[in-house]
Amino acid sequence: RDNLSHENLYVEFHDGGVAVIVLNRPKALNALSPDLTRELGAALDTLEADDTIGAVVVTGSAKAFAAGADIKAMKDWSYMDVYGADFITATWERLTTFRKPTIAAVAGYALGGGCELAMMCDFILAADTARFGQPEITIGTIPGAGGTQRLTRLIGKSKAMEMVLTGRMMDAAEAERAGLVSRILPAEELLPEAIKTAQKIAGMSRPIAMLAKESVNRAYETTLAEGIRFERRLFHSTFATEDQKEGMAAFVEKRAPAFRNR
Ligand code: CAA
Repeated sequence: RDNLSHENLYVEFHDGGVAVIVLNRPKALNALSPDLTRELGAALDTLEADDTIGAVVVTGSAKAFAAGADIKAMKDWSYMDVYGADFITATWERLTTFRKPTIAAVAGYALGGGCELAMMCDFILAADTARFGQPEITIGTIPGAGGTQRLTRLIGKSKAMEMVLTGRMMDAAEAERAGLVSRILPAEELLPEAIKTAQKIAGMSRPIAMLAKESVNRAYETTLAEGIRFERRLFHSTFATEDQKEGMAAFVEKRAPAFRNR
């Protein structure tokens, strides 16, 4: 299947129901210009509607996942420009409403909006070259796409506060220790391993994977008691699916399940 090409990114299709969105604006280290984020939103709309896709990897280049919002585009914007357009817009946040599982495969710089974009994915796999940071304060602004909120929930107040107030970068080892990334891989293995992981997820029942994602995300939005109640209702609902019958029957019959996504 042919790649889907946009000006600032392209989408590769892989076996096993996996799509890889490759941010591709090398001259600006994948700085997230309005055009790039619009294209990202459009690509996600396409992949959400595509029944053959079960999981999505978002990645950049070896040097940069993304070096943040586009400073050259932003520098002269007025308050009314950013308030009026509600920057950061829904095109950036499209990842947070995307219902299929998403993996950020990060090599090189994930700074500012780049770090925020990675954190909007369901989990982050990092190359040993990855560098994470929220350097907005060094250019006279603050994170605007969830950096003060998601980073704090992921790594705790002390580390998040230090990162946001000093703008310093974390390397991959520190990011893994802090719980920002799920695993570190040698740079050359990052994308193959991310695709393999996505294929594994896409091989599960699609609706069940979506329910699992929805339930984990709920942990960030609610109290423990309400979250547990929400989880239990979704867990109960899995018993209304054919794939739950198939999965459990296959286990008992000692064979691989043949999920039909229903
Ligand atoms: N916006 C626009 N252009 C950018 C960019 C950005 N965020 N980051 C890098 N570029 C451009 C550079 O201007 C340069 O372009 P030219 O060749 O035309 O000068 C090109 O990409 C290569 O960058 P460098 O020459 O700077 O590369 P380097 O290897 O010396 O340094 C870097 C790499 C440390 C990542 C450095 O580029 C840098 O500090 N970038 C900015 C990081 C940043 O501050 N990000 C936060 C943005 S604000 C934000 O994201 C707000 C929000 O919360 C939504």
